[in-house]
Amino acid sequence: MLKTAIEAAQRAGRMIAERYPGGRSITVKGFRDLFTDADIAAQEVILELIQARFSDHTIVSEEARGREISSGYTWVVDPLDGTTNYTHHHPVFAVSIGVLKGGEPCIGVIYDPLRDHTFVAEQGCGARLNDKAIHVSRAASLKNALVGQDWGHSNEVRERILLFLHRIIPKCGTLRVLGSATLAMAYVAAGWLDAYFHLGLKPWDTAAGMLIITEAGGRCSTLEGEPYRVDLPGCLATNNLIHDELLAVMQGNDKRDPSS
Ligand code: IPD
Ligand code: CA
Ligand code: CA
Repeated sequence: MLKTAIEAAQRAGRMIAERYPGGRSITVKGFRDLFTDADIAAQEVILELIQARFSDHTIVSEEARGREISSGYTWVVDPLDGTTNYTHHHPVFAVSIGVLKGGEPCIGVIYDPLRDHTFVAEQGCGARLNDKAIHVSRAASLKNALVGQDWGHSNEVRERILLFLHRIIPKCGTLRVLGSATLAMAYVAAGWLDAYFHLGLKPWDTAAGMLIITEAGGRCSTLEGEPYRVDLPGCLATNNLIHDELLAVMQGNDKRDPSS
């Protein structure tokens, strides 16, 4: 399964990268929500490979039908994460493939085709980037932390994010918005971001990333501090060390002065 997930993500990623310089056909599927010819072509490449090798497994893929996670193996696929970036020729996007067993992630692969970065995790075996072990950052407090975040599609989600930012910005090092939730999660795993949060996530945004983060020594929770599950929209992912501090700040319960 891991070999297939890597092969599928890399094949699809290479195809997306080949199409990247050219024009593309864009379809609007919802409010601030798009897909392109590249999303569909990448999905076909991935699904064909999975179906050929694991015909009895369930597949949940963003641009395909079928949204039910099964009690057996479920492949959760985002064929192109960062479609808005892609349509603007903004070079931050990735392919994400997670495998769940009984709803729990057991394999995660995120492939960034422009940088040839393959982030991988297998349950209990650690996380790797291009075959080298990766670990979350050692940042022990929020005041120097690089915090990632992404905007959801709806204004309701954006308003709630703004409220959190109002609390976080005065207390953290600084903030980054990548425009690809999966890549931001991979960056937390690699220690390139100390934390990341989002309130409007889908299973295909997090199925691979949450395993890669936990296998790299990090932690994923809901915004209330409960264990995160891929069917939940809100996730706080951190290096573990700053998790409780950031949660308290987000909940408005941290009274520490960041300059001290
Ligand atoms: C989106 C990206 C974006 C996040 C959105 C996602 P897509 O995924 O991850 O960063 O803010 O909530 O829907 O549509 O490009 O696969
Ligand atoms: Ca996505
Ligand atoms: Ca997508």
